[in-house]
Amino acid sequence: MRTGLFLLISTFPLTACQPSPAPRAQDEPIATPDLIAKGQYLVKIGGCNDCHTPGYAQSGGKVPKQHWLTGSGQGFMGPWGTTYPSNLRLNLSKMSEAEWLVYSSTFHTRPPMPDFTVRDMSDDDRRALYRFVTSLGSAGTEAPAYLPPDQQPPAPYFQLVLPAAPADAPGQEHATKAPAAS
Ligand code: HEC
Repeated sequence: MRTGLFLLISTFPLTACQPSPAPRAQDEPIATPDLIAKGQYLVKIGGCNDCHTPGYAQSGGKVPKQHWLTGSGQGFMGPWGTTYPSNLRLNLSKMSEAEWLVYSSTFHTRPPMPDFTVRDMSDDDRRALYRFVTSLGSAGTEAPAYLPPDQQPPAPYFQLVLPAAPADAPGQEHATKAPAAS
């Protein structure tokens, strides 16, 4: 009891002088180096480089960081048409962090982008992705534009031949039709 009182008295002057922490604005950078490191880790284990970084999968992940996520001219052709992994370095640098947080929790793309993975991430994880990608700076050029199913893409491209969907499988229309881009 006496110790408790002593602690209270001895710490009072210190704490009384501290300004109370202001609420954090959404765009205010906090612990940026930690978030950047976390974003790098998420990009690595989340497989983003496998598609969005040219030569990454082919080299066993040996592409230097300055070339990461600059988009790819290697298309993915399937019943949806041909899609190209976008240049995330350019695209994220055009958005504010607040815009990215809204966009990345609601966007829908064509296959084979696992948009559901990004949408399911926590706000903190998606914020970390943003901090890491924008810390690399804007680089490279836009990936080629999407081609509809009736257009033959130039090489190189992966051609995906999908199994027929079971009649009762939910969500199959997303993979077999050409949905409108969002
Ligand atoms: C299997 C390949 C693949 C993987 C893995 C992948 N992407 Fe994509 N991504 C694509 C393709 C292809 C598109 C273009 C889709 C379209 O045209 O509709 C795309 C589009 C996107 C877009 C929307 C376009 C833009 O630039 O705003 C975002 C954001 C994105 N990817 C982020 C990520 C992130 C973050 C990861 C890792 C968690 C990731 N992608 C993993 C292939 C992939």
